[in-house]
Amino acid sequence: MAVTRTFSIIKPDATRRNLTGGVTKMLEDAGLRVVASKRIQMTKEQAEGFYAVHSERPFFNDLVSFMISGPVVVQVLEGEDAVKANRDIMGATNPADAAEGTIRKTYAESIEANSVHGSDSDENAKIEIDYFFKPEEIVG
Ligand code: CMP
Repeated sequence: MAVTRTFSIIKPDATRRNLTGGVTKMLEDAGLRVVASKRIQMTKEQAEGFYAVHSERPFFNDLVSFMISGPVVVQVLEGEDAVKANRDIMGATNPADAAEGTIRKTYAESIEANSVHGSDSDENAKIEIDYFFKPEEIVG
């Protein structure tokens, strides 16, 4: 299995509750290494562009409003099969469906305020990393 990278967001519901460290510890305990991290206030345009794939979904406007409702922490994670490792520790999108021991089961409030985002493929990981980070900001 190759060492790869994925993209993660610690969402506003988690930063608001001072859970940046708690979420990051769960990521690290799952074997992922934080090779880039910054706390930002996303603009509406940034959030709309990031979630453009969902622009026709009924929850799009609420999702964008939520993602700009407070600071987020964007991260690049590195590890063995990082996309899968991250998705496994995140748990299901809806915390009601998430397995015990996952980040969303532990911390998420709802399907919208679900504490973390993670890339769903290696291809999207590269696109999402490039959306928020310059190459020199990533130090493995
Ligand atoms: P995320 O992995 O960031 O990708 C899109 C987000 O839309 C998802 O996590 C959810 O937090 C959010 N979302 C809000 N409502 C829904 C819904 N009904 N179905 C799927 N995702 C939703």
